[in-house]
Parts: sequence; C-alpha cells; structure tokens
Amino acid sequence: MEKMTVRDLDVQHKKVLVRVDFNVPIKDGVISEDNRIVAALPTIQYLLDNKARVILFSHLGKVNHKDPEKTESDKAKNNMAPVAVRLGELVDAPVKFVDVTRGEKLEKAIAQMQDGEVVVMQNTRYEAGESKNDPELSKYWASLADLFVSDAFGTSHRAHASTVGVAELLPSGLGFLVEKEVKALASAVYEPRRPFVAIVGGAKVSDKIAVVENLLTIADKVLIGGGMAYTFFKALGYEVGQSLLEEDRVELAKEFLAKAQDKLVLPIDNVIADRFAADAHSKVVRNSEIPHDYMALDIGPATIELFKKHLQGAKTVVWNGPMGVFELEPFAVGTLEVCRAISSLEDANTVIGGGDSAAAAIQLGFKDKFTHISTGGGASLQFMEGKQLPGIEVIANKE
Ligand code: 3PG
Repeated sequence: MEKMTVRDLDVQHKKVLVRVDFNVPIKDGVISEDNRIVAALPTIQYLLDNKARVILFSHLGKVNHKDPEKTESDKAKNNMAPVAVRLGELVDAPVKFVDVTRGEKLEKAIAQMQDGEVVVMQNTRYEAGESKNDPELSKYWASLADLFVSDAFGTSHRAHASTVGVAELLPSGLGFLVEKEVKALASAVYEPRRPFVAIVGGAKVSDKIAVVENLLTIADKVLIGGGMAYTFFKALGYEVGQSLLEEDRVELAKEFLAKAQDKLVLPIDNVIADRFAADAHSKVVRNSEIPHDYMALDIGPATIELFKKHLQGAKTVVWNGPMGVFELEPFAVGTLEVCRAISSLEDANTVIGGGDSAAAAIQLGFKDKFTHISTGGGASLQFMEGKQLPGIEVIANKE
C-alpha cells in the first residue's frame, strides 16, 4: 500500500509541522557532519516553493529526565541553536530559531510567520513526554499547525510524540527523505538483484541478531566482520584473547553457524593489538593464533581478499557495521578496503545502513560512491530486520 506523501497535501498558505532528524554530531557548538540537515532540504525546499509556513522540530542527543542536574546539563549540551544556524546557511529563506518547545514565545513566532518562512523549534527531547508519546504533548504540538510531514527517517523506529503522536492528530504525509530511504532500502532488501551480498559488522552480536537472522534468509552470502565476529570465533572454539566477546551470545552464534552453513562467512585473519590505542603494538594473525593478552581490532589482509572475492559480481550489497575500529587509523584498513571494494562494483545496487558504517564511509571519503547511504542507524537496522517502522506506519495509506 502506498503512503500519503507531502505531494498529496495542499500545503499552500498552511502551517506545516515537519518532523526532521537533525540529530547531528555537535561538539562545542560545532557540527562535524551535516548530512542529515542536507538530506532534509528537498522536503523543506518543496514546502517553501509551494508557499507553506514550515515549522521544523527534531530531537538532538538524549536528555535525562530523572536526575534534574543531568536534565540541565543534557539540555545545555543538546541545544538545537547551532543546527538552526547551519540550516539558515543552507536554505534560501528566513530561518527563525525559537529556543523553547512550547508556550507563548513559540506560538507568537508561529503566528507571525509568512508563507515561505521557516521556524525551528528547540530540541523535542527537552520535553519529558516526547519519548513517552505523551498524548497531551502530541495534542499541543498538533495544535500549532494545519498539517504534518514525517521526514525523520532516522527516528522513524521511535514511537514518540513528535513522530507518531502528532501524526495521529493531523492530516499527514511522508517527506521526500523518508520516501527515498524506504525505496532504496526496500529495493535492496526485498527486491535484490542477485547475487546479493550482505556485510554485517560492528561491535556487538546482540545489536545485530535480528538483522543477521533476516539477511540469512534473503541474501546469498552474509560476511561478518568487526567486534561481533569474535563471539562467532568463540562459538567455533577459538580463543579470542581480549577481543570483544559476548559470552551470553555464544550459543546463539553456534545456532547461526549451524543453520547458515557456508552462507555465513567469517574472517580468516585478524589485526590484533596489545592495547586499544592507535600506537599499540599490532600484528596480523590467523584465527587460532590470538594470544590471551591481545585484542583483535580489524580484519586482516587475507580476510579483505576473501571478502573482495565474495563481492565480485555482486548486484546488490547491503552493508551495516564497520569491519574494525576505523576511528583509529591503523585499524581502519578493513573498513576502508571493504568500502573501496563495494564502491567499485559496476552495475550494483549498493546500500549502507546508517550509523557507524555510514559515518565510516563518509569519513573515509566515500560519500558519493554508493547508491544510497542511509541517514538512519537504528531505523535502517530495524528495516533490515524486516520490521515495521512506527513513524512511517502511522501515515495513512493513499485512498
Ligand atoms: C539516530 O541517531 O539513530 C536517531 O537520530 C535516533 O536517535 P536515538 O537513538 O537517540 O533515538
């Protein structure tokens, strides 16, 4: 069933509340990666071109509402002001930032809006009721606008007041980013051209259980790298030294191995280090040679070649999770080479689930080298697990 989109709404002269995901990395007031803001521009521009009044709201980081001291410091750390400034540089329209999430100041700013103007509200998580999908809060936010647009793909796995609550109360449609994300992910996961190779990495098996389980049923090969590989190693009887290990997932890893047979491909060598540091002493060893006082921090050169071989000729590749500790240069090679191998495939649909692998691809200079890099970490994971996303489900189907 096709969902309503922003194109199906009559937005002219209307106040349109748009849930975006502006949860961008900010340090000391400086945004280090603005791709989520850039990704929201098509919807914002469309609304401006069609003479709407655009009210944007998003969460930023997390705000603890149990300990008042923490609440204040989290709020200070996760102030939306720098995001509004960046948006103002990117969009050709007046952008006004309102540093509250409710009350007279916000209502006045919205009442004074003209067609083609933008208001950015303060961080939705300043409100304790946001994450609880509080009905009173949803009702209040819905009262500020005529229409709602859901364009926060990265947050669409959260049933919060700003993603689901408001959508239940206003005529709503999906924005262009959500539409694009769903199309790209669905074409890879549900209509893959074959061979279909999935690459799953990252620190923990527990984060990726459902995604590995689902991908094993639909992909032709599932290559495993990153910290999670070592729980599989343990399941095969290898000693893993100080490498990341989830003891309580070893049995599950055994089950996966038994079920998947040769569909699941593990590393065959590893870069190990005596410390978790860029200047640690490191060497390459086979799986059976990890000393008790070393930790594996990247896949080794033989594994890179093996993964490249499996990638050859692939027509669909889905990648979620780095192959090693790419943040430390000596252990970024595995992730870099996998990035390079995927991006050099010809005539292939190459999709990166968001989160760390998207950050790695962008940081390593591969921003434009994939068919699609998702803006959603948890959301793309949930999509690849074959689950519904509440922030999308809540939008009505077209008649
Ligand atoms: C993300 O960064 O994955 C999204 O913005 C969701 O953030 P959350 O995990 O804090 O809900």
